[in-house]
Amino acid sequence: MITLGIETSCDETAAAVVLEGKKTLSNVVVSQIELHREYGGVVPELASRKHIECISLVISKAIKDARVKIGELDAICVTSGPGLIGALLVGIGAAKGLAMALKKPICAVNHLHGHLFAAVLENESFQFPFIGMVVSGGHTTLFDVQSPVEIEVIGKTRDDAAGEAYDKVAKLLGLGYPGGAIIEELARGVSDDGLRFPRALLENGNFDFSFSGLKSAVLRHSEKVFGVSDYRKRPGSFRPIVPSKTSTEDRMEVRRIAAAFQAAVIETLATKLFMATRSRDVSRAVVCGGVAANQALRERIVSQGKNLGIEVIFPSVGLCSDNAAMIAARGYSLVKAGKLDSLDFAARSRW
Ligand code: KG4
Ligand code: ZN
Repeated sequence: MITLGIETSCDETAAAVVLEGKKTLSNVVVSQIELHREYGGVVPELASRKHIECISLVISKAIKDARVKIGELDAICVTSGPGLIGALLVGIGAAKGLAMALKKPICAVNHLHGHLFAAVLENESFQFPFIGMVVSGGHTTLFDVQSPVEIEVIGKTRDDAAGEAYDKVAKLLGLGYPGGAIIEELARGVSDDGLRFPRALLENGNFDFSFSGLKSAVLRHSEKVFGVSDYRKRPGSFRPIVPSKTSTEDRMEVRRIAAAFQAAVIETLATKLFMATRSRDVSRAVVCGGVAANQALRERIVSQGKNLGIEVIFPSVGLCSDNAAMIAARGYSLVKAGKLDSLDFAARSRW
């Protein structure tokens, strides 16, 4: 079976063609990061307009790169949520148009389930059940995945997502957007030197996350050491604490803050993940989503998993961020299970 995946839930316009849910024949992603960079975050209206500009070209390129004929597609799989409504509608509109014109089945895919299936896609002998943790800019969610069609949410963030916390901390320190890779780079090889930010909700049995207190703790600490700079010049809800002096000492303090912040995020994510494997008596885990590209997180979780006898699977870095190959792979499993949709499904901002 050949599935076409379409993804437009946030700031990537993506289409991909996947064979039998396992072999990626093409994977086209047009990122809008440059468009949103000056605002320090995704601007929904700009995102949907850009998706409209790109969607036809991206789909055509995915089909061409895959060297298949459009009539050979067996199903059209599209992200229908959670995400930005205006952005989702662009992908959904294109998918419905194609399905109608080609008289092919259509399948509405949950974006977070798509992230989980990035791991399934890359592993020929992938086995269920597993505990899945999606850590991205919009979500931090723990799943108990018993089978492709038995996916239970066991915990999620009560406020900011982990990636959102990275982005907000980078913004308040005046470091740029998106913040994840920037903070990871600054924290590399640096000791937090005793600076410790809070880890929330770590008590046993609590599978929810909270990162807004951590972000506020970073803000308070930064205000104390750097003071408050002229935030009115920068859009956004945070006062960026751009160190006014570019002394070696200031730069080192920013790196120390980055290291201490990242240590708190990683410890929280690792603790929750293994609390879930223990509680559900599952010996396999998948960690995915944009933040799963973080090398320090990967190393910590893989090594802790080894000690605990838990097999941990991370998708390759390229498949951690938003893409449509994961949507085509997830769609394949739904089609196989007979879970098709009629053409009247709607976009969902939450799911
Ligand atoms: O999954 P994704 O591409 O889009 C969403 O669905 O949100 O994730 C984007 C998020 C951003 O918040 C970004 O800062 C974060 O992933 N991210 C990282 C890294 N690379 C991207 N966070 C930590 N370390 C990284 N290396
Ligand atoms: Zn995502």
